[in-house]
Amino acid sequence: MANTILVGAQWGDEGKGKIIDVLTETADIVVRTQGGNNAGHTVFLGAQKYVLHLVPSGILRPGKRCVIGNGVVVDPVSLVEEIEGLRKLGVKVDGNLFISESAHLVFPYHRALDEQRELRKGRNKIGTTKRGIGPAYGDKAARAGLRMIDLVQPDRFATLLRQRIQENNELLRAWGAPPLSYARVQAAYRAAGDALQGFVSNTVVMLNEAIRRGENLLFEGAQGTFLDIDHGTYPFVTLSNTTAGGACTGSGVPPNRIDRVVGVMKAYTTRVGEGPLPTENAEVADMLHALGREFGATTGRPRRCGWFDAVATRHATMVNGIDKLAVTNIDGLDSVETIKVCVAYRAGGRQYEYVPTDAPTLAACRPVYAEFPGWRCATGQARSWAALPTKTRQYLKAIAELSGARLGLASVGPSREQTIFR
Ligand code: IMP
Repeated sequence: MANTILVGAQWGDEGKGKIIDVLTETADIVVRTQGGNNAGHTVFLGAQKYVLHLVPSGILRPGKRCVIGNGVVVDPVSLVEEIEGLRKLGVKVDGNLFISESAHLVFPYHRALDEQRELRKGRNKIGTTKRGIGPAYGDKAARAGLRMIDLVQPDRFATLLRQRIQENNELLRAWGAPPLSYARVQAAYRAAGDALQGFVSNTVVMLNEAIRRGENLLFEGAQGTFLDIDHGTYPFVTLSNTTAGGACTGSGVPPNRIDRVVGVMKAYTTRVGEGPLPTENAEVADMLHALGREFGATTGRPRRCGWFDAVATRHATMVNGIDKLAVTNIDGLDSVETIKVCVAYRAGGRQYEYVPTDAPTLAACRPVYAEFPGWRCATGQARSWAALPTKTRQYLKAIAELSGARLGLASVGPSREQTIFR
């Protein structure tokens, strides 16, 4: 096997949770390396639905170890809730979940600031998940963050938290928002620290030792390429590096220990939150929402939807070095008569074959479409490449080729069995 980075090749919500669950079968350790509980990875095991926010999806496979790496921002109170929820469902977490001692913490003042910044932006808001992710990464970059290693040392933590609450309360007051009670936050975080103590360790050393022993690592990307702080549609992005490079910095595993990159993409495009989405299309959105599809796993918001954007996925292949593609939600297009695929953009008399850096330019881009005949039958029962309708195979081959990578996996439904290896 190999050390594999899995990334979202679009705007997040590509169905990574399920693909990670499938690939975990051949991995020893599954590692989250960026983002926080803004992520929502949905996995179905039989009739049971699991939505994971911080814990890697690998936790659902007995015998696998899971790591929350140094690049993740952790809301410890919500992590404890997630762990307890998993325990209640009979999922083993003790002894197989490890949290980096250098992962930064998310606090209630981060959530309050996230909300205030969005309010103040008005029409220009980002549409964040309001989980405090941006302000938490902001504090990390400003060297004003607290980390897991602080949380599990109660005296040190109490002193540092008091300072941070004082400073952030000044900011909240200035913005007309209610200040936070130190005592209340301290009590909640103290309890979470006690509950998490046994999970916290030096995961950088742990992961590199595992690699030396020949174990296989799977890096579980959260969000997607175009939400990357550097490579996304800035400022309509999240605050972490969601692209493949983020897996290395977010885990302490060097790039020359990575063997392959898998890119996950939907057979169409979706996005939650604001920002440009060149192929956005109301009819596609209505069709998918009427099927009960495309509502956010974290916030329940209806996702914006559109046709497959091959300019974007080609760009994603380039910045991530995607070797293999996993295409999900193919069954979402089962009823469509003519499927469109964006092959280039046009704006200001210019044709673009790549994603322009400037968000207003991207917002002005109009898609140039190629058309494919729909297969117009249910694909959810297909269990092999040969069992897929010819038109489905042609469509999948075309979008893989346009995206510049090999098709490795096709998913025709939420369950593990509805996965076709090519
Ligand atoms: P934040 O990460 O909450 O700061 O939100 C920034 C942007 O990223 C917003 O457009 C969110 O909707 C989007 N976003 C964050 N996490 C996810 C995710 O897991 N899936 C899809 N979009 C996300």
